[in-house]
Amino acid sequence: MLDFTINEEICISCGQCASDCPSMIISMETNLPTIAADLEQFCIGCMHCVAVCSEGAVSILGYGPEEGISLKNAAVAGPKELELLIKKRRTIRNYQDENVDPALIEKLVAVASHSPSGHNDRDLLYTLVDDKGIIFDLREEAFAGLGRLIDAGKLPEGMEMFIDIMEAWKTSGKDILFRGAPHLLVVSGGIDSAAPLQDSIITLTTFELYAQACGLGTVWNGLLTLVISELVPSLKTRLGIPDNHEIGYAMGFGRPALNYERTIERKAPKINRVA
Ligand SMILES: Cc1cc2nc3c(=O)[nH]c(=O)nc-3n(C[C@H](O)[C@H](O)[C@H](O)COP(=O)(O)O)c2cc1C
Repeated sequence: MLDFTINEEICISCGQCASDCPSMIISMETNLPTIAADLEQFCIGCMHCVAVCSEGAVSILGYGPEEGISLKNAAVAGPKELELLIKKRRTIRNYQDENVDPALIEKLVAVASHSPSGHNDRDLLYTLVDDKGIIFDLREEAFAGLGRLIDAGKLPEGMEMFIDIMEAWKTSGKDILFRGAPHLLVVSGGIDSAAPLQDSIITLTTFELYAQACGLGTVWNGLLTLVISELVPSLKTRLGIPDNHEIGYAMGFGRPALNYERTIERKAPKINRVA
């Protein structure tokens, strides 16, 4: 049941909601927007009808214009600010040994959850470690599992780099897996959704930018993702990630222990221009 409701007193019958509906299920036949009962199943819940209405007359799925932020005269970051945020983003591998305020962590996840999603399925799970004490336990478990694999000679081909990673941990306590981040976010997607992997990565990309805009540091934990999803499966269980979920990626985050003084230049992007 979509609960598609039009405030008839303020609707101006402009038809914008109908023309922007990706499923093309909103009809203007009666001059007021309607969705036929047999077409409701085709709604993907994107809520463009609510977002586009200039009068604030549309509600659907229990959400109306009051729930959103009005974009009339809103101070949205301009291209200059966004360019600077994108260019100043750095992978952080040095963290302060302290927990981030749980309210801020919750806000980061809530904002990141607004990312685009294939077919608007939004079937993502945000597995969150918001206490650095738990990271300590996970690190012990990850290195113990890796150690067992290495000792038994069962490290899969192509993953020999984990021998050096293990060595660095044993000899100098250098944590190349978690990079010393006090928090971890693993985003996974339901395997039956349209694009579990892509949804997870896009959401983490949004999370990273917003977290860095809030003064936090982040690191894409590629090595740890391999450990969780392939090498030490007990970690996936410990994290509570369901079997019917595909792991997108793991990202460490926390308060950085250093500042970067400038942006850097990258090689010009390789463009395949189609004539
Ligand atoms: C998919 C992916 C996986 C990554 N895995 C790791 C990792 O396991 N450990 C690490 O320290 N950095 C990791 N990084 C960070 C890259 O090394 C980093 O983005 C690159 O060196 C450029 O630095 P910058 O992010 O500061 O621009 C990863 C980045 C990406 C996009």
